[in-house]
Amino acid sequence: MCGIVGYVGTDRSVEVLLGGLRRLEYRGYDSAGIAVIGGDGELRIRKHAGKLQILVDDVERQAMPNGGTGIGHTRWATHGSPTDANAHPHLGDNGKLALIHNGIIENFAELKAELLTAHPDTVFTSETDSEVAAHLVGYAFQETGDVTQALRAVVAKLHGAFTLLVMHQDQPGVVVGARRNSPLVIGLGEGENFLASDVAAFVEHTRRALAIGQDQIVTITSRTVSVIDFDGGSVEPEEFEVTWDVSAAEKGGWSSFMAKEISEEPEAVANTLLGRSTGGEVRLPELAGDDDRLKDINRIVILGCGTASYSGLLGKYAIEKWARIPVEVELSHEFRYRDPVLDARTLVISISQSGETMDTLMAVQHAKKAGVHTISVCNTQGATIARESDAVIYTYAGPEIAVASTKAFVAQVAALYLFGLHLARVRGTLDAGESAALLDELKSVPAKLATVLEQHDRIRQLAHWMADTRAVLFLGRHVGFPVALEGALKLKELAYIHAEGFAAGELKHGPIALIEPGQPVFVIVPSPRGKDSLHPKVVSNIQEIKARGARVLVIAEAGDAAVLPYADEVFTIPLASTMFEPMLAVAPLQIFAMELAAAKGLDVDRPRNLAKSVTVE
Ligand code: G6P
Repeated sequence: MCGIVGYVGTDRSVEVLLGGLRRLEYRGYDSAGIAVIGGDGELRIRKHAGKLQILVDDVERQAMPNGGTGIGHTRWATHGSPTDANAHPHLGDNGKLALIHNGIIENFAELKAELLTAHPDTVFTSETDSEVAAHLVGYAFQETGDVTQALRAVVAKLHGAFTLLVMHQDQPGVVVGARRNSPLVIGLGEGENFLASDVAAFVEHTRRALAIGQDQIVTITSRTVSVIDFDGGSVEPEEFEVTWDVSAAEKGGWSSFMAKEISEEPEAVANTLLGRSTGGEVRLPELAGDDDRLKDINRIVILGCGTASYSGLLGKYAIEKWARIPVEVELSHEFRYRDPVLDARTLVISISQSGETMDTLMAVQHAKKAGVHTISVCNTQGATIARESDAVIYTYAGPEIAVASTKAFVAQVAALYLFGLHLARVRGTLDAGESAALLDELKSVPAKLATVLEQHDRIRQLAHWMADTRAVLFLGRHVGFPVALEGALKLKELAYIHAEGFAAGELKHGPIALIEPGQPVFVIVPSPRGKDSLHPKVVSNIQEIKARGARVLVIAEAGDAAVLPYADEVFTIPLASTMFEPMLAVAPLQIFAMELAAAKGLDVDRPRNLAKSVTVE
């Protein structure tokens, strides 16, 4: 989950690396560091615990000799606490080699013991697994005199997940990277080349990128890029163009990336739907040729972590209703270790904004080994999960920088609903008229969502009044349940407040015991329209908690008079049929969590202890 950037080009490494790290800071912000080979040929490092700004201030205070070769790292601590000493880069070969690492080297203790037997004088200055790799590559360089060969010799010994970048003072103008189950992309510039965990790090310099596969090693100079696999065989990497530019990743006047990203939700949904239907029918070219397979499957397993798992729950409701096929939703990290029953008629759909979440990647790999067809729903082009799946349905939410996911959630739901309608067409479970009406309604979501966002100021006011709240409960039923779970997750992540989401029907089976006078409870109320509406049942739940003194905060359809006598606050959503209500009801809860965190003076974009892309298990 750390962020990694490497650069070879003109004498501006320091600026390029610090700029790249600024865009990767969402991946981890426990410490940051850079290594640069200066114009005088000497390798220097600067690194500090804490946010990137501390490093930037230090580099500004005591200028660092610039050069054309450098690597930079922003850390999310795994082995060793977030201290200056544990910050990357780590040094090898008597300070002549610098290495940065993302991931976990599982066998580092054994490797360290072996290394100390072979080289008892080796001095370790950190508690990290990464420093072991730095020394190993350093000793290998002493034998080979070449960073690529040295790194290749070492990766063969490593277990676990890693991206490593290495440079050596005796081979200036070269940065070498290696990856296994951890992200790394190449940026192709004019007379300069880049390596990074994510294209965001170099998109201001170039939009041409190359994807690197698993177990591959890349060597860049200012003019060349060469890729080999861990066995030394040459590899032709796949080129792709980054479809967004740097302005999409800037705050653009908003107080936080999260505020900007919530405001972009209507666009995120609209872009995800764009060009994916014709004549009232969904068309997913990415699934072309899969119709026979989709007709033949008898079960779907949806996998994801965090917010992605909740969009998966909504996908389940829609796919089961429209395509009449059983769907299970499972947390990726639970799935793999319980020996799940899988066969060729199972379809696995993984959901991941980043496309790099290790638990989800491992679950996809597990499913593939079992011979299961895999489709991913992913927001990041060329991401590992997308590349390793048999097919990918991209969400086009644009870059999501704030650590906690918001716009990606609604875009994931849109993509899953498109898939549900596609599957229903292939399997003949919806007639053309029903299907076209649902598609039309899906297309109306962006405009409706824009009107929901207009309540931002009122929600902010409520959040400010509630800044001292210690616990908040969320109730929802049917498709309102995943919304309740997501509302609670956002509040935990952003405002560090104890929050729980419950299925409203479960209230009497336990949660009602938590209700005492003044306890705030958000209730997601379904529309009163429709003969099977669960509205009366949820209104009964509201009466039950109100009778026990709860402070009732309601998300309800505009004009729903039945909730008014019991609600302390009402936020409204426009008329929508059941399946589309969640795409509208989630925004007020996201805004509430963000504004409550802001009222507490917290950093809403970078909540403590979290990372956007969890690339360790
Ligand atoms: C982390 C983030 C969450 C995100 C989850 C899954 O925990 O903090 O916001 O929902 O990872 O991320 P993914 O990139 O796989 O959607």
